[in-house]
Amino acid sequence: MTSQIGKYVGLALLLAMTAGGAAAKEVDWVSLNPAFKDATFVKDPAACFSCHGDHEKPYAATTHARLFKAGKAPASGDCGSCHGPRSKHVENPSRELALSPAQQNTACLQCHEGGGLMYWKSGRHASGDMSCVSCHTVMQRKSEKALLANKREDQTCYACHGEVRGQMNKMSRHPVNEGKVSCSGCHNPHGSVAKGMLKGASVSETCFQCHQEKRGPHIWVHPPVQESCQNCHQAHGSNHRKLLNSKDPFLCMSCHTFGGHVNAPRYNRVSSLRGEGCVNCHMAIHGSNSPSGARLTR
Ligand code: HEC
Ligand code: HEC
Ligand code: HEC
Ligand code: HEC
Ligand code: HEC
Ligand code: HEC
Ligand code: HEC
Ligand code: HEC
Ligand code: HEC
Ligand code: HEC
Repeated sequence: MTSQIGKYVGLALLLAMTAGGAAAKEVDWVSLNPAFKDATFVKDPAACFSCHGDHEKPYAATTHARLFKAGKAPASGDCGSCHGPRSKHVENPSRELALSPAQQNTACLQCHEGGGLMYWKSGRHASGDMSCVSCHTVMQRKSEKALLANKREDQTCYACHGEVRGQMNKMSRHPVNEGKVSCSGCHNPHGSVAKGMLKGASVSETCFQCHQEKRGPHIWVHPPVQESCQNCHQAHGSNHRKLLNSKDPFLCMSCHTFGGHVNAPRYNRVSSLRGEGCVNCHMAIHGSNSPSGARLTR
């Protein structure tokens, strides 16, 4: 079990061990909403379901319900852990205790601060009005894993990132629609230290997670490959084969304009339809380990 000590709204932290090994930070409910004052936790979900019966069955299938049911409910009780002390609400129900998205986050973060959520606060999604429930639905289970708001992860993201949906429909693309790669294969939606909330420290490091052979080491390197995969590839989708930024001879000739054969008709499809593609001969475009591969031809 891990525990951590920190500060929360200037108050000394109270540690409470919860299910799953996470150390919960006590939430100062009264500072979130003064109407919680003098109320105590109702630790019996049945009391809540007497009025909110429509939630009983859907909620039972969620990760939290299953965990908390197994006798591991946190000190604040099952429902209370996210909805606060509600003894007064039970007696005199209203919407007075409704939480804003930001306040809801506070309830979630009491148990989910570390691990994958380490960079949440500095991530792009934490800014503005976005909250955990922009992507997660916790009162019912819609997705196979991670309690996502949509059955599929990509659809959860497309709700706001329509432009990426378009990119993922291009001729050449990462097989996200096919379910072989997920957005979270490359991104940490909870934030990361890298630009673009990427999982790796850089674009290339992110790519190496799955395309390790491109890392090398190579005897003969191709400098743009070492610099960034983005010099030649789109990450999401492209209308050129192999996710390339542009059609191959143009791609190569954006950097290689001079040289013996580059502009000769026989060597490129730009000046001659019958000319060969650059990578027909420069096959080791990502780097070569052949002693005679200095020109990336083998
Ligand atoms: C993991 C946190 C969490 C737990 C545990 C939890 N809830 Fe919720 N609940 C939420 C969030 C977040 C919402 C609002 C967003 C939504 O509806 O998905 C919500 C919504 C609700 C609503 C509807 C509110 C409205 O605006 O109409 C009710 C009623 C409710 N919960 C009751 C319960 C009851 C009863 C329990 C215990 C059996 C419980 N919840 C356990 C987080 C939680
Ligand atoms: C006596 C009936 C009753 C009981 C018992 C009850 N509620 Fe409610 N609850 C209500 C009513 C009525 C509303 C307001 C619904 C509305 O106007 O949409 C409400 C609203 C809510 C809401 C949404 C607004 C808010 O305050 O956040 C949540 C969440 C909620 N209840 C959770 C709970 C939990 C958790 C329990 C058990 C501790 C509980 N309720 C017990 C009747 C009840
Ligand atoms: C009282 C502690 C506690 C609170 C509060 C809490 N969680 Fe959790 N949650 C857990 C534990 C324990 C697990 C299971 C272990 C894990 O995945 O960390 C879990 C799991 C999850 C999972 C993964 C579910 C899966 O099936 O893979 C998600 C997503 C999640 N919580 C979101 C939330 C959100 C969103 C909120 C606030 C609305 C919240 N949690 C509030 C304790 C809590
Ligand atoms: C932009 C969408 C998005 C937002 C906002 C978001 N999540 Fe997630 N979350 C995801 C996705 C997607 C996964 C599944 C990741 C995977 O499969 O690797 C996930 C997984 C999780 C998990 C289980 C795996 C893990 O990383 O520990 C927990 C717990 C969790 N989220 C909690 C939260 C909490 C708490 C918040 C708010 C502070 C939050 N999430 C906000 C998209 C989001
Ligand atoms: C509720 C809307 C919403 C959802 C759902 C959502 N996002 Fe975002 N996302 C945003 C907003 C807003 C920004 C910030 C955009 C900006 O500043 O241009 C953003 C930014 C991003 C960025 C760019 C970060 C950067 O530093 O440039 C990435 C990557 C991203 N989201 C991935 C995801 C993934 C993956 C999912 C699904 C797991 C997802 N988003 C779901 C609203 C959303
Ligand atoms: C193969 C890896 C990979 C996958 C899979 C992936 N992305 Fe990206 N994404 C990237 C890279 C690389 C960037 C560019 C980051 C940078 O340069 O800042 C990026 C950028 C973004 C941005 C910032 C805006 C933009 O277009 O530059 C958003 C938003 C985004 N991705 C969302 C998504 C969503 C949603 C999914 C799933 C449908 C997804 N990504 C899948 C690698 C990936
Ligand atoms: C999560 C794993 C994963 C990550 C990370 C990843 N890829 Fe891929 N990539 C794949 C899979 C799976 C395929 C499809 C392979 C197949 O169909 O045989 C693929 C295919 C490709 C292709 C060939 C596309 C085609 O049309 O045949 C290129 C180019 C590519 N990836 C480049 C990248 C780049 C650049 C990055 C980093 C921005 C990256 N990949 C990150 C899994 C990944
Ligand atoms: C100088 C341009 C260039 C750079 C930079 C580049 N690539 Fe490529 N890549 C290509 C070309 C051209 C092809 C098509 C090769 C072919 O058709 O034989 C390709 C094909 C691929 C393929 C699919 C075929 C295969 O060889 O597996 C993957 C995967 C790939 N690249 C990954 C990467 C990764 C990862 C990076 C960054 C480390 C990267 N590329 C950097 C030009 C480049
Ligand atoms: C972003 C710029 C860029 C792109 C795009 C690019 N290259 Fe290069 N390439 C370079 C640089 C820089 C060198 C190193 C030149 C040097 O050392 O003089 C290099 C070296 C080479 C070499 C070895 C030449 C030598 O003199 O050692 C070959 C062959 C080559 N590139 C072929 C290609 C082909 C084929 C493509 C298209 C698939 C391509 N390049 C795309 C920048 C690029
Ligand atoms: C028919 C095969 C073939 C094709 C097609 C071809 N090359 Fe070459 N290229 C070579 C060979 C062989 C060398 C090595 C020449 C030497 O060592 O003297 C070479 C050398 C190079 C060099 C090193 C500098 C130089 O001029 O000697 C660059 C850069 C280069 N090629 C780029 C390209 C680009 C860009 C294309 C596409 C427009 C291309 N090549 C198409 C076979 C080819």
